[in-house]
Parts: sequence; C-alpha cells; structure tokens
Amino acid sequence: MTYLQHPAAEDRPVRIAVIGAGWIGRFHAESIARRVPHARLEAIVDPVLPAVQELATSLGITKISTDVADVLADPDVDAVLIASPLRFHAELITAAAQAGKDVFCEKPGGRTIAELDAAIDAAASAGVVLRFGFNRRYSRDFAAARRLIDDGAVGTPQLLRSLTRDPGTEAGISNPERIAPGTIFLETLIHDFDTLNWLNPGAIPVKVHAVADALVAPEAKSGGLLDTAVVTTTYSNGAIAVAEANFNALYGYDVRGEVFGSAGMVTAGTPQATNATSYTAAGIASDTTRLNIHLFHDAYTDELAHFTDDVAARRGFGSTTAGASPTAAPGGVDARNALAVALAAFRSAETGLPVEVADIAELRAAEGAVQLQGVQA
Ligand SMILES: NC(=O)c1ccc[n+]([C@@H]2O[C@H](COP(=O)([O-])OP(=O)(O)OC[C@H]3O[C@@H](n4cnc5c(N)ncnc54)[C@H](O)[C@@H]3O)[C@@H](O)[C@H]2O)c1
Repeated sequence: MTYLQHPAAEDRPVRIAVIGAGWIGRFHAESIARRVPHARLEAIVDPVLPAVQELATSLGITKISTDVADVLADPDVDAVLIASPLRFHAELITAAAQAGKDVFCEKPGGRTIAELDAAIDAAASAGVVLRFGFNRRYSRDFAAARRLIDDGAVGTPQLLRSLTRDPGTEAGISNPERIAPGTIFLETLIHDFDTLNWLNPGAIPVKVHAVADALVAPEAKSGGLLDTAVVTTTYSNGAIAVAEANFNALYGYDVRGEVFGSAGMVTAGTPQATNATSYTAAGIASDTTRLNIHLFHDAYTDELAHFTDDVAARRGFGSTTAGASPTAAPGGVDARNALAVALAAFRSAETGLPVEVADIAELRAAEGAVQLQGVQA
C-alpha cells in the first residue's frame, strides 16, 4: 500500500495584531492566541505599556508596542483587531486599511455616520476585509433564530424585541470611559439595534423614539450618564421593535431576543448558564451567566474564526473553514444601519421627540439572505 499524494494548499495562519489591551481586547487576544483556528496573535499595541506587557506575558507574545504605527508598518501583520475606545475606531480603520491590513473593529465603527463612511470608503478603496464586532449574530441561539426566520417560522415580522441587562460590574458603570453620555445607545444598545435589523431581513429602520434615565445611579444623571433605556423603532416593512437596556441586572448577564409575526414567533437567549436546574425545599434555581465573555464565549471565537477565514480567502492562503459558523458577517452596511439607529435614539432621548432615521443617514438594507463565509459585505 502506497499513500496517494494530496496537493496541500498554501496554509499559513492569518497573523493578527490586537490594538487595545483593555477589557475586550484582552479577551480577543486570548481567543486569537488559543482558540481561533488558523489565526496567530502576531503583536499587541496599547498606549499604556503595562497593559501590553501584562497581556503579552500571559500569552507569550514578544512583539509589543505603544504605537499603532509599528504594527501598520509591519509586513508580518496581515490584519488588525481594533479594541480601543470608540473615539479612535474610525481613524484606526482608515489607517489600517491604507496600510493594506484587513480589519476587524469592535462596535461601533465610529461616532458619526460621516466618520464611519470615511472608514468604510477607505476599506473599500484598499480592497481589505472589514468586519464589525456584532458577536450576537454568532451565538447559537440568535443564529438559529435567524435561520428559523429565513425558513418562514415567523411569516411577516410584526413585533420584535431585544434586551440587554448588564450586571454592570467589570466594564459597566464603574468605568467612566464606558458611561459617557450616549454610551447606553452607542455602545450597549447598538448590539440590540444590530440584532433587530438582522432579525428583520430586508427592512430598514425608519423612525426611532427613545426614553432613558439614570435609575441605577441617579447621582450621575447631571453628568449626562444614563443607565436605563427603552427604544422603539418602526421599520420600512411596518414592523415595530422594542430595545431595552439596564446596567444593573443583579441576577446575571441577560440578553434575549424575540420576533413575532403573521406565522408565529421565535425567541433567543437565556441568562441561565446551563440547562441544569435544582429543585429543593428552597425552590427552583439555576446558575446564571455574569459576564459577556462567558455568555458569548463561543460567539466571540466564531466571529473571529469567520473573519480569519475571510482574510485567508482574500489573501489566497487556502481554505481554513474549521470552527467558523456560517452566519451573516457584519460589514459596513450593518455597522452603518445600527449606528444610525443609535444616533437617532440618543437624539430622541435628549429631545423627547421621535427622530426620523433619514435625518441621520440614508440607509439601505443589508443582504436579505444569510451571507456565507468568504463573501464580502
Ligand atoms: N462586542 C462586545 O461585546 C464588546 C464588549 C466590550 C467592549 N466592546 C467595545 O470594545 C471597545 C473597547 O472597550 P473596552 O471595554 O475593552 O474598553 P477598555 O477601556 O477596557 O480598553 C480600551 C483599551 O484601549 C487602549 N487605548 C486607548 N487609546 C488607544 C489607541 N489610540 N490605540 C490603541 N489602544 C488605545 C486603552 O489604553 C485601553 O487599554 C469599545 O468600543 C466597546 O464598545 C465590545
């Protein structure tokens, strides 16, 4: 018996530099280093040297810098993952694209539609992959909900609901950077806005009305900090959506979604950590999830695996499909649509009036069908 020869595709890892070694950047760096197939953590950058050093030591990485220019000039870096604070996102996407790097950026892609558009244009001109961190699309529950909707389980969507109740411990109300005015809309509810847009395929958001308050930390309200919000959005297909958030869920990290329509309803998400339930004299109890990195642990891996596959496909490294779930890859259109709703909600909460999304940006619907791996948004 002689082995047959099987031609091997050029197969080398996608080398990714992480920009920003904070809360989510640390977790993404660990995912790339340990869990994402065919990816290699090439370098870490953060202006705060101890943050980079600590992360690099824990992951055994030797290339570190406090200057983003170093990774942008490094020919061994194929792609960057941007996990800096929001105010740097758009300029970092543009700089990375102009340096020929593929880009995964945490949400949102910019503070305004104009700066996000400039970043999306820079990526399109450079021909690089640009993806955004709407990780909920990769959670098993939400991906299954979208497939059911595509298969007709809901019929015509009429009512949608998405909620985020954040325990507010690690990265929430204890961190002033994270609770600047608008944060609840731009950084938290933007996940819900993307989820609602994605679970209502083919429709675009038309009108937004938001009510928000500082019910968890009333003393912060004078600084403009809001911790509780409800946002209604009407869509071009007539569907009405509700998104809600609160930064002090004592029972755990709670993210759920629901779509109700002419043919039925689908739901997704649970705060329960497992399906185990105890029935005792004290009652019925289940453990809950406390952190986003636990609730969405696998989704964070899969979104980066999908990004890695897309980069590998663009760069001709051969097929690297292990691990990534086929789901809609959040690209520029999705980032724009979600940001427009977030900005409309922020304005509505300030004025108390409904806001037409067209006054923020002219939107177009994302692809109606699920985009499979390797397909550019
Ligand atoms: N998808 C998710 O579930 C999720 C979860 C948490 C945070 N995020 C997003 O990730 C981003 C970062 O959030 P975080 O909680 O990790 O913040 P963080 O404050 O914990 O970390 C930000 C890090 O970026 C560094 N930094 C500052 N300026 C920089 C620059 N110019 N270049 C590179 N690094 C710079 C800071 O020193 C810090 O270490 C935010 O946009 C946030 O909305 C997403």
